[in-house]
Amino acid sequence: MEATAAAMLALVLLSPTTLATDVHGFRATLTRIHQLSPGKYSAAVRCDSHRLAFLSHAAAAAGSKATTTTTTNSSVSFQTLLDNSAGAYNMDLSIGTPPVTFSVLADTGSSLIWTQCAPCTECAARPAPPFQPASSSTFSKLPCASSFCQFLTSPYHTCNATGCVYYYPYGMGFTAGYLATETLHVGGASFPGVAFGCSTENGVGNSSSGIVGLGRSPLSLVSQVGVGRFSYCLRSDADADADAGDSPILFGSLAKVTGGNVQSTPLLENPEMPSSSYYYVNLTGITVGATDLPVTSTTFGFTRGTGAGLGGGTIVDSGTTLTYLVKEGYAMVKRAFLSQMAMANLTTVNGTRFGFDLCFDATAAGGGSGVPVPTLVLRFAGGAEYAVRRRSYVGVVAVDSQGRAAVECLLVLPASEKLSISIIGNVMQMDLHVLYDLDGGMFSFAPADCANV
Ligand SMILES: *[C@@H]1O[C@H](CO)[C@@H](O)[C@H](O)[C@H]1NC(C)=O
Ligand SMILES: *[C@@H]1O[C@H](CO)[C@@H](O)[C@H](O)[C@H]1NC(C)=O
Ligand SMILES: *[C@@H]1O[C@H](CO)[C@@H](O)[C@H](O)[C@H]1NC(C)=O
Ligand SMILES: *[C@@H]1O[C@H](CO)[C@@H](O)[C@H](O)[C@H]1NC(C)=O
Ligand SMILES: *[C@@H]1O[C@H](CO)[C@@H](O)[C@H](O)[C@H]1NC(C)=O
Ligand SMILES: *[C@@H]1O[C@H](CO)[C@@H](O)[C@H](O)[C@H]1NC(C)=O
Repeated sequence: MEATAAAMLALVLLSPTTLATDVHGFRATLTRIHQLSPGKYSAAVRCDSHRLAFLSHAAAAAGSKATTTTTTNSSVSFQTLLDNSAGAYNMDLSIGTPPVTFSVLADTGSSLIWTQCAPCTECAARPAPPFQPASSSTFSKLPCASSFCQFLTSPYHTCNATGCVYYYPYGMGFTAGYLATETLHVGGASFPGVAFGCSTENGVGNSSSGIVGLGRSPLSLVSQVGVGRFSYCLRSDADADADAGDSPILFGSLAKVTGGNVQSTPLLENPEMPSSSYYYVNLTGITVGATDLPVTSTTFGFTRGTGAGLGGGTIVDSGTTLTYLVKEGYAMVKRAFLSQMAMANLTTVNGTRFGFDLCFDATAAGGGSGVPVPTLVLRFAGGAEYAVRRRSYVGVVAVDSQGRAAVECLLVLPASEKLSISIIGNVMQMDLHVLYDLDGGMFSFAPADCANV
């Protein structure tokens, strides 16, 4: 028995590294689950707030230093990752032999790949029926001795006769399953022996069949297939016509950002969260209009001590819709916008009922994108600069009877006190080709027409 387990383990451990040299590059597609439009922004804010709670929870669980001192409140929902249908992306993943295709949420903020598996006691019927392990010739359960099992964050897994079992409890229920390996097919490339979660009990949302984790930890797709880098280019919701909206995601040698205006900044590791899945960058400055905000290395930097903050820092996340800045940094941004909007004679509007903090009357100056809002530039360590396009930081949340913009809001919000991490969400990543170069330890980006990447 032990020999079999050891052989399986060796197989599992060897296949990704063997593959790495064979894999040159592949391309897949990201599909926006719902485009943001005036009525949908509030839903996006609500979904984000759940996701943010999950991220902080997961961060607490992942950080070995933090785990000992942070109490785990499991009522925070794992499900909320899937409920972020107001503004997330699905990617098609085919699993097994013969392959079955599932539309799963593409998430750079987590690492586990998982889908619903039969027999399933509590599964969402949509968008696809659960995966049938018994119908695949390449399916096998992972033994507890597998290193992949050890990679599951500690409060979430146990080992018993079922195998390497994960169990994520939340307020109204839970999702649970076991780790297995399968042949995965993505964008025309195939990878045998990829570890993934087979969820057999779920109360998940119905817009995705699971998650493909693209984070930095060993269980993620990028880590397991050994591609070393990936990039994507998210098309703006504003470009959406009937059938549009699909955005490219590129892996391995196909993932490169070219052009004259490529900006790069190092990917960081948070010393407080050594095994974190997150892609941390060093946000060193923000300019609003003509004003350079007094950002210091502590504003958006890592924080010491686990009591407050879960380690701080700034992450780039595909699964969060809007952008969230820690309290002090947000306050600077807000002050600068308020004073410059006052100079431009823009009337502020109470944003509470739209779920936002800073909104203004867009009917002045003819409405819509004609309203002169201050420009926004983000600066990162290494000299990288991102001049954010207007539509990636200001959104129309209400229209008048003729469909013209009535109220617009800043698509940047204060992070909750508890979270104290800043998150660059997917709306702010639109119209950019972004590259996560894990091998090179760099995050790069360049303005791009994503329809032509
Ligand atoms: C977890 O949080 C929920 C909601 O915030 C609260 O009702 C519950 O009592 C908390 N549970 C624990 C064990 O702290
Ligand atoms: C293993 O643990 C899971 C979660 O606690 C449970 O659902 C399952 O029935 C257990 N399997 C066995 C064989 O005890
Ligand atoms: C998905 O769930 C939502 C809310 O639970 C429901 O309104 C919607 O109709 C469901 N969609 C499908 C396709 O089942
Ligand atoms: C703002 O309004 C004041 C008073 O009506 C006017 O003098 C000023 O020129 C306006 N400023 C701008 C930027 O429109
Ligand atoms: C905005 O409106 C909400 C209720 O809709 C109210 O509680 C809040 O105090 C208002 N904020 C400001 C700044 O007036
Ligand atoms: C971020 O960049 C600033 C300015 O270059 C530097 O002082 C700081 O040490 C950097 N922080 C980290 C965590 O690398």
